[in-house]
Amino acid sequence: MLRCEQVELQSLAESYGTPLYVYSKAALESGFTAWQDALSGLPHLICYAVKANSNIAILQCLAKLGAGFDIVSGGELARVMMAGGDPNKVVFSGVGKTPAEIRNALDTGIRCFNVESASELRLLESIAAETKMTAPVSIRVNPDVDAQTHPYISTGLKENKFGVDEDTALKLYQQAQASDHLNPVGIDCHIGSQLTDISPYLEAVDHLLGIVDRLGDLGISLEHIDIGGGLGIQYRQEPPTGPIDLIESLKERFEHRGLEVVVEPGRSIVGNAGVLLSEVVALKHGEHKNFAIVDAGMNDLIRPSLYQGWHDITPLAQRDGASLNYDVVGPVCETGDFLGKDRDLRIEEGDVLAVMSAGAYGFVMASNYNSRPRAAELLIDGHDCHVVRQRETIATLVADEALLPDKML
Ligand code: LLP
Repeated sequence: MLRCEQVELQSLAESYGTPLYVYSKAALESGFTAWQDALSGLPHLICYAVKANSNIAILQCLAKLGAGFDIVSGGELARVMMAGGDPNKVVFSGVGKTPAEIRNALDTGIRCFNVESASELRLLESIAAETKMTAPVSIRVNPDVDAQTHPYISTGLKENKFGVDEDTALKLYQQAQASDHLNPVGIDCHIGSQLTDISPYLEAVDHLLGIVDRLGDLGISLEHIDIGGGLGIQYRQEPPTGPIDLIESLKERFEHRGLEVVVEPGRSIVGNAGVLLSEVVALKHGEHKNFAIVDAGMNDLIRPSLYQGWHDITPLAQRDGASLNYDVVGPVCETGDFLGKDRDLRIEEGDVLAVMSAGAYGFVMASNYNSRPRAAELLIDGHDCHVVRQRETIATLVADEALLPDKML
């Protein structure tokens, strides 16, 4: 039987129903400590990318371990604060920060704004001036390197909307340096996600360090370098590249620079700490194809549909007999609704399948499409199980909607 820590997944599916996200606290913690171990010996700050999995219990566990957080919205900042996160360890990324979000983050006292454009820097300065504050600033540089990942999760090419080029960055730093309300403290980049080769990182970091040197010549000295997130995990047969491999190969570049190293990992902390359980609703055998229709769909886990992402699919019960080849599909009315294609499985109707490596960009990207209530989430700690999010109900689906009054009909 497949377990999460000391708890059998089958019993969780029976008690809590499916689709069901199940997270392991121990796996989450080891995802974080792998980064701590890799960075020990260097001044560093690990800012977990909240977008990967923003459940407040997950954030709470990481805050307890001393994590900082990389946020991209006011909503994420609110979650971090609710979970007991330290605002002084929060960096704020994202190309479209609103005035309200900036104001709130300034009031909260976050570590740094990762600024993505000249307009954003102007806006930040004017809000800081209004409130007589000084905003800590990092400029997100787009180093124009190919992260060799899926195009939708590649962010460091000049045709991507993220960051600014070197010359623009230098101008923005000079503006920030000259302003009473901006304090240039760092430089950052994030070149993409699910990177399985570290050479694009080396290229990006060399580019950033070149800018740090040019800033030094201009009399602008920074406190930190933020290399972003993006380190890949093993979904299938990707080479196992961990934080230690990445940091070891970068370490000598950081030595004697006196810069704090900031990282923004999401997937590499939480990706392999979660599974999605789903029950086989029907088996449909055909001349050309067999379908295993399950009760989780693209609304629960969109990665296969959106990025052709591969997730291993493992039945909880071992059955005898020959396996059959299936497309594992959801109940959503879209041909793109699948969790896995061409999978050899020995399964029967009613069996529960574990969709593996679903801890990152799983529940957070779930929607109510087809009016499907979102799944429940559980966190397991040894023998203990805690519901960290209740399953949605039909009532919660329509709770914020309103029928028209009679006079409008
Ligand atoms: N920092 C920034 C500025 C980011 O944009 C991201 C992810 C991260 C850090 C964290 O990257 P990670 O370590 O998790 O790779 N939904 C897609 C992934 C989108 C990533 C967006 N940015 C997926 O399911 O593959």
